[in-house]
Amino acid sequence: MKKAVVLFSIACFVSFAFVIRTQTLFYKPDNFPVPQYDFSKNPLSEKKIELGRKLFYDPILSRNGSISCASCHSQYTAFTHVDHALSHGIDDKVGTRNSPALMNLAWYKTFMWDGAINQLDMQALAPISHSNEMGESIANVVAKLQHSSVYSKLFFTAFNDSIITGEHTLKAISQFLLTLVSANSKYDSVMRKLTNFTVQQNNGYILFQKKCSSCHTEPLFTNLQFENNGLPVDTTLNDYGRNV
Ligand code: HEC
Ligand code: HEC
Repeated sequence: MKKAVVLFSIACFVSFAFVIRTQTLFYKPDNFPVPQYDFSKNPLSEKKIELGRKLFYDPILSRNGSISCASCHSQYTAFTHVDHALSHGIDDKVGTRNSPALMNLAWYKTFMWDGAINQLDMQALAPISHSNEMGESIANVVAKLQHSSVYSKLFFTAFNDSIITGEHTLKAISQFLLTLVSANSKYDSVMRKLTNFTVQQNNGYILFQKKCSSCHTEPLFTNLQFENNGLPVDTTLNDYGRNV
């Protein structure tokens, strides 16, 4: 009898811990809206996120093994490319745009500066196949991953399938990207009433709400629309984005 009670308690504890664990895989801050991403089509798991993270930092995704996603999305600068105006990729080729910071992607309806992509699970195909970025095809990426004993094991553990597919590769990358939630700044602590702005910060906040928040709308600091902020077009790049 006692043994049954003990086992029951252990079972309760384990399932409770499991619920806590799966909830913490994706962090939705209280002051954020409902995410746009449909998690039911790609339910997060620790193993898939780990796999996606490894892929993100691995130059195996590029044609000659020289460029990873992190080459242009550096972790130490909020996953963007600083120090130059335009991102450069394979064979030092330079594109026409710089990489945006990667954060709060679960709340975005469209991706890229011009919104050319509307599904996070498809996004990675663009840099992989872009001739200035990674210069590779998803079919080759899958073949290289399938040949790697390390990846064969990781994919099997994550997806319970010994055949690696493009879909699983892209979904794993999405899983990692979805964990990049930015909601731990002083601003966020103030919004959660854990601390206060200084007088100067508060003045800046009031000014920001007046002058900036129509486009940089809280709490995501974007209104998720496309706006003209008045900067001149660089005609040498011949990249007019949505202005066509
Ligand atoms: C050669 C540099 C480069 C590499 C490598 C690269 N990116 Fe990017 N990334 C960019 C640029 C530039 C943009 C903006 C593209 C545009 O507007 O057309 C971008 C945009 C994005 C976006 C959209 C973000 C937003 O806010 O709309 C995501 C997500 C992203 N990249 C993820 C990845 C992933 C995942 C990989 C690896 C598979 C990767 N990137 C590899 C340069 C790069
Ligand atoms: C008319 C809409 C609009 C207004 C108003 C506006 N911005 Fe922006 N802002 C943009 C756009 C568009 C971009 C480029 C895309 C992006 O970074 O979201 C941008 C970019 C930025 C960036 C660079 C972000 C990055 O990731 O590189 C900063 C910083 C910024 N704005 C601050 C401000 C501040 C401060 C104000 C108020 C004084 C302001 N903006 C008002 C539209 C606007």
